[in-house]
Amino acid sequence: MKDTFNNKKVLVTGHTGFKGTWLTLCLLRLGAKVIGLSFEKNSNSTLYQATELNNLADTRYCDIRDKEEVKNIILTEKPDFIFHLAAQALTLKSYEIPHETFETNFIGSLNVLEALRVSNHNCTCIMVTSDKSYKNDEWIWGYREIDKIGGDDPYSASKGTCELLINSYYQSFFSHPSSNTRVATARAGNVIGGGDFSENRLIPDCVKAWKKNESVIIRNELSTRPWQHVLDPTCGYILLAAKLSDNKELNGEAFNFGPPANQMFSVKDVITKLAEKWTLALPKQLYKLENTEYKREAHRLKLNCDKAKELLNWQAELNIDHTLKYTADWYINSITGAQKARDFTFSQIDNYLAQVAYEF
Ligand SMILES: NC(=O)c1ccc[n+]([C@@H]2O[C@H](COP(=O)([O-])OP(=O)(O)OC[C@H]3O[C@@H](n4cnc5c(N)ncnc54)[C@H](O)[C@@H]3O)[C@@H](O)[C@H]2O)c1
Repeated sequence: MKDTFNNKKVLVTGHTGFKGTWLTLCLLRLGAKVIGLSFEKNSNSTLYQATELNNLADTRYCDIRDKEEVKNIILTEKPDFIFHLAAQALTLKSYEIPHETFETNFIGSLNVLEALRVSNHNCTCIMVTSDKSYKNDEWIWGYREIDKIGGDDPYSASKGTCELLINSYYQSFFSHPSSNTRVATARAGNVIGGGDFSENRLIPDCVKAWKKNESVIIRNELSTRPWQHVLDPTCGYILLAAKLSDNKELNGEAFNFGPPANQMFSVKDVITKLAEKWTLALPKQLYKLENTEYKREAHRLKLNCDKAKELLNWQAELNIDHTLKYTADWYINSITGAQKARDFTFSQIDNYLAQVAYEF
């Protein structure tokens, strides 16, 4: 399992964030030497702090919008792999700070791609965008990688524009025989798992409220989403990087990483199922509906993951019950302090890696 990443230099942007921390811990488990690039202002992620990741990864605080700093890090370090996750990742916040969202997500991606173009060292780069990159027609089918890119709210549109940008860099530079850069985009949906304490995300909101024996306030109980555990797409990104480094046919491709089509659940179902796995005290009423009008968010969004199955042999491993069990167990361990967060998180990663059908 450790061949591809063992002793390899891997740059993870956004490594202090929720997904970035899980990804970094997985890469460390696979023997990688991780350099993390994140924004100091945003670096109070509970998972990052709880797992004391700063002691394990070489952290560089830098603004991804700063072209010269990003270029300097990439040209100096010449990482074998880059996973670009740094972003303003919250849809609701993107209505409050649209300009910053576009700047961080678009210019940040542009800076990484431009540094790779200039450096032209051997590097495999996974650009993490989102399922929200697709033009959402709220239809019943899963989106395929060939479907239209779009996005109405600023976050979704910023991720859609990143897709166009990445494709342009691939077509114009990285597809050229003299280029040593391989790039692919990874599109995943909402993820859940231990250690997320972001605002306006369902599971963190449940944990925060239930800890105080209060009902969680939610915006829309019927909103139906493809929920998945963070380890599923995270290991999909790693698998994609491993395969891409070995197979130039995958250069420039996009891949969806979502749960199976029958794993669509409403917010109400997810809260009910999470409560079944919650062994600590619960409030009498699990949730209440917010009575203010909520900002428009797409309600139906599903990914078709046939391409990842066919070309990478990837599929989601955890069904909704396993996903919520992993998640509830993480928060319960954190609240009771039974095991150190880092050890507990590594034990979940080890369990997960022991059951996946692929090798890196
Ligand atoms: N969490 C999800 O459900 C989800 C779903 C689909 C796609 N994604 C994508 O995955 C990636 C990671 O998401 P997340 O949930 O871990 O986000 P997060 O908000 O937890 O973390 C964001 C990370 O980006 C860094 N960052 C933000 N602005 C920066 C800047 N100006 N300069 C440098 N670093 C900066 C932060 O420091 C942090 O490390 C994002 O690109 C996001 O769009 C997330």
